[in-house]
Amino acid sequence: MGRLDGKVALITGASSGLGRAAALRFLREGARVVLGDVDVQGGAEALAAVPAESRANGLFQRLDVSREEDCQAAVDAALQRWGQLDIALANAGIGAPGFLAALARSDWERVLAVNLTGVFLTTRCAFRAMQGRGGSLLVMSSVAGLEGTPSLGAYGASKAGVLQLVKTLALEGARYGIRANAVCPVWTDTPMVDAFIKVMGLGREAGRARLLKDIPLGRLATPEDVANACLYLASDEAAFVTGVTLPVDGGHTAGRTSAG
Ligand SMILES: NC(=O)c1ccc[n+]([C@@H]2O[C@H](COP(=O)([O-])OP(=O)(O)OC[C@H]3O[C@@H](n4cnc5c(N)ncnc54)[C@H](O)[C@@H]3O)[C@@H](O)[C@H]2O)c1
Repeated sequence: MGRLDGKVALITGASSGLGRAAALRFLREGARVVLGDVDVQGGAEALAAVPAESRANGLFQRLDVSREEDCQAAVDAALQRWGQLDIALANAGIGAPGFLAALARSDWERVLAVNLTGVFLTTRCAFRAMQGRGGSLLVMSSVAGLEGTPSLGAYGASKAGVLQLVKTLALEGARYGIRANAVCPVWTDTPMVDAFIKVMGLGREAGRARLLKDIPLGRLATPEDVANACLYLASDEAAFVTGVTLPVDGGHTAGRTSAG
């Protein structure tokens, strides 16, 4: 028996990285999943990675989370194909690394449009579809939403913003049986990390070694580590958990790694 048997989920940013891993995990646990993303080719590859016997439980829908009509169309796709929506994971996100003093205003606005407004639009379209029967809203934040990080000012502001959004969604959703929770991964082994290491001006190995210094458990997160946390919060095992922020960070936010 799967932990998400009978559930229907929408996952944004599902063509790559964490969203793809969550989609594969949710499908393996018996969910039917709408995979939403701007990247159509990546979406096809994600679906191709689904075992043949459960491929019919996955559906790709092109969407740009900064466009409300796209978010609504993805929710409608779930309702039309499977008649319900139980889980929405607002995961799509981008970075625009750079010191705030030098950051172009257009980069600031692009990051907020996807990472903050996109989460608002995704969760509100899903919320309306869940009002009759309850559901689980999940938001992919980051440890960069809990603390400052040089070069990640716009990104961190957007990720802190969604944590506040989740708390309000939890309070407003409670009377409808809608839960809302956030996941805060530390550096996770996806293309986004490699892009950031490039900006740091370091090679791949030196860059990774630098990032590992701040992770007590001594490795980057894997997309599967994060998918497992999402699975728990999405499932009925977390039926009494709402409004929380769950770090998936190998101890990063527990404190300093040395007394010095
Ligand atoms: N990788 C990390 O270290 C890390 C750490 C903490 C949080 N996160 C967060 O996890 C989420 C996924 O990141 P990832 O590392 O898998 O990155 P990724 O770049 O591998 O995947 C992001 C996906 O989002 C899609 N996307 C981008 N803009 C979109 C838009 N406007 N509409 C729909 N889809 C869009 C991309 O096409 C891509 O498939 C992001 O919100 C990111 O901020 C990542």
